[in-house]
Amino acid sequence: MEHVALGRTGLQVSRLCLGTMTFGFQCDEPTSVAILDRAAEGGITFIDTADVYPLGGGLETAGRTEEILGRWLAGRRHDFIVATKCFGAMSRRRWDRGNSRKHILDAVEGSLRRLGTDYIDLYQLHGPDPETPIDETLGALDDLVRSGKVRYVGCSNFLAYQLARALGRSDARGLVRMDSAQPRYNLLFRQIERELLPLCQEEGVGVIPYNPLAGGMLSGKHRGGEPPAGRFTLGNAADIYQGRYWHDAVFETVARLEPLAGEAGLSMVAMSLAWVLGHPAVTSPIIGASRPDQLDQSLAALDHPLDPELKRRLDELTLPYRMGDAAR
Ligand SMILES: NC(=O)c1ccc[n+]([C@@H]2O[C@H](COP(=O)([O-])OP(=O)(O)OC[C@H]3O[C@@H](n4cnc5c(N)ncnc54)[C@H](OP(=O)(O)O)[C@@H]3O)[C@@H](O)[C@H]2O)c1
Repeated sequence: MEHVALGRTGLQVSRLCLGTMTFGFQCDEPTSVAILDRAAEGGITFIDTADVYPLGGGLETAGRTEEILGRWLAGRRHDFIVATKCFGAMSRRRWDRGNSRKHILDAVEGSLRRLGTDYIDLYQLHGPDPETPIDETLGALDDLVRSGKVRYVGCSNFLAYQLARALGRSDARGLVRMDSAQPRYNLLFRQIERELLPLCQEEGVGVIPYNPLAGGMLSGKHRGGEPPAGRFTLGNAADIYQGRYWHDAVFETVARLEPLAGEAGLSMVAMSLAWVLGHPAVTSPIIGASRPDQLDQSLAALDHPLDPELKRRLDELTLPYRMGDAAR
């Protein structure tokens, strides 16, 4: 497995990162463990989670994913780079969410406890918090890095201007800075190519995109006119994912992508992931699975860098998802 630096840092991460948000709701613990084992066998050393996971279960299940991962990591913590996140609501208490100093300091303790570790390699803000001044947030993150509880910090779901502002405030105040961004990115959602990715390249911010297969839509297994399945039926996340991708235009695009994968002798999964890997700003896409065997096609993407002509055709075919209303 190739390892690369996370942005301008000295931290080496595997070229694919394993996402865990299926663990504890969609997947039971034995299945989650089998997915972790398969990823580790495939050479993946970079694992992404979040305090609010699993996806789909809401407040009642928040924290379960980190607990499962923590049990699996016991005895091998130092063999993996572990990334987690805070921001989402962890209880009904009004202050138990967001990017305030209060919540960040509470949230990190919860994650450390559930993960069974005394340090987090990459601590990410799961989203921007317009109600908290960025200086307050950066001050709390700076304290965490100085205390040794956290090694690097990053953000997720930030717009380019929000990341640019955070980088500027870190510079001006001599505080820890965002060394990674975790945006949504796939052939059906390309907005970040316009501003966020160029910013990350210029500033040396690592990019670890999530949802590279559009929740499975880009595997080609879903068909318009059929009832939603898998990710698209998952608890309180079903509406979000159907809203993003369960549309006639998307099914038509996927149908036009399929012959290109066939011509290249690739699975839809490998082709779609290779396309994400092919963007020069991308450090390590975060792959997801609900069964261990699904990882095989994702791992295969690493062995099949896209031919430039295929990349050009994919770029052209999915251009509407780079801008405008098509990019939901
Ligand atoms: N920061 C954020 O806001 C955010 C948001 C979302 C995700 N993430 C992170 O990114 C990770 C990955 O996101 P994601 O799960 O949305 O990624 P994804 O790669 O777009 O979707 C993964 C899903 O695709 C389907 N799939 C994967 N391989 C397949 C195969 N070979 N054949 C058929 N279907 C296949 C499975 O869905 P089914 O089997 O269920 O159909 C699987 O759960 C998460 O675990 C999490 O760590 C972060």
